[in-house]
Amino acid sequence: MAKKTKDDTPIGPTGRPYQGFPIPAPLKAHGPARIIALCNQKGGVGKTTTSINLAAAFAEYGRKVLAVDFDPQGALSAGLGIPTHEIPTVYDLLLDTKRDVHEAIVHTHVEGLDLIPANIDLSAAEVHLVNEVARETILSRVLRQVAGEYDVILIDCQPSLGLLTVNALTAAHGVLIPLECEFFALRGVALLIETIDKVRDRLNPSITLDGLLATMYDARTLHSREVLERVVEAFGDDVLETVIGRTVKFPDASVSGVPITEFAPEHPAAQAYLRLARELVARGAVA
Ligand SMILES: Nc1ncnc2c1ncn2[C@@H]1O[C@H](COP(=O)(O)OP(=O)(O)OP(=O)(O)O)[C@@H](O)[C@H]1O
Ligand SMILES: [Mg+2]
Repeated sequence: MAKKTKDDTPIGPTGRPYQGFPIPAPLKAHGPARIIALCNQKGGVGKTTTSINLAAAFAEYGRKVLAVDFDPQGALSAGLGIPTHEIPTVYDLLLDTKRDVHEAIVHTHVEGLDLIPANIDLSAAEVHLVNEVARETILSRVLRQVAGEYDVILIDCQPSLGLLTVNALTAAHGVLIPLECEFFALRGVALLIETIDKVRDRLNPSITLDGLLATMYDARTLHSREVLERVVEAFGDDVLETVIGRTVKFPDASVSGVPITEFAPEHPAAQAYLRLARELVARGAVA
């Protein structure tokens, strides 16, 4: 952050003045939740890492958070240290929307952060649900039961644009798109935006794009800087000012099953996710 504006504000990695977003004021009451889907059909871009750490960051600011694992790989559940065999998962809720959602909610060891886990069973969901009436709105109906109890619900989508992801987009108020600062970052984003537009048109008129989040950014490489520049050219202010740097701390933290905000709270990456939470509150995406 060497560059500065005329009045000495540093210029951030997205080329805009780097603001300090205020610490969110404590909430007097909780709910109803704003539901945010973390979505990108490209694999390995940081959806799950962002779900875990953003969820923990919101919890740290006193928000009541529900993280929904919506990927049969169960990486979000594993990353929060929750074993998923022989417990009710999101799949059971999808199959029986009358079932009490609380049966599948697990309290994580992070205060204020709950999880609806997933496991490989969920991979059968697309096949099972394809003949259901209103098959795109099943997750929405499930989450409606508990939305009043949380301030924010984050849905960690699988890397596909199939029926599960469409369910997540139909349930969501907003979408957050993590993008890895790599050469093909923008490939596929047009298709994703098109999918969001279709969902808005047919299923969920009020869905908004909450932002694109650059992840695995390495300020030392020209490549990372160029990719980010191109993303900002294409999406302007929809690109969140907070950028997540590339660091080995994330793989380390996932292995130990805790968010980086707990594993290494002083680490710049933990600070970045806290800042992301503050930015989303400042943008009005979360109370
Ligand atoms: N900022 C980062 N720096 C370094 N490594 C990271 C960072 N963010 C995520 N990773 C690592 O990159 C890999 C992919 O991240 P993650 O699982 O969050 O992506 P994903 O989009 O959820 O993947 P999938 O599409 O498979 O669900 C993981 O090994 C993770 O630990
Ligand atoms: Mg994932």
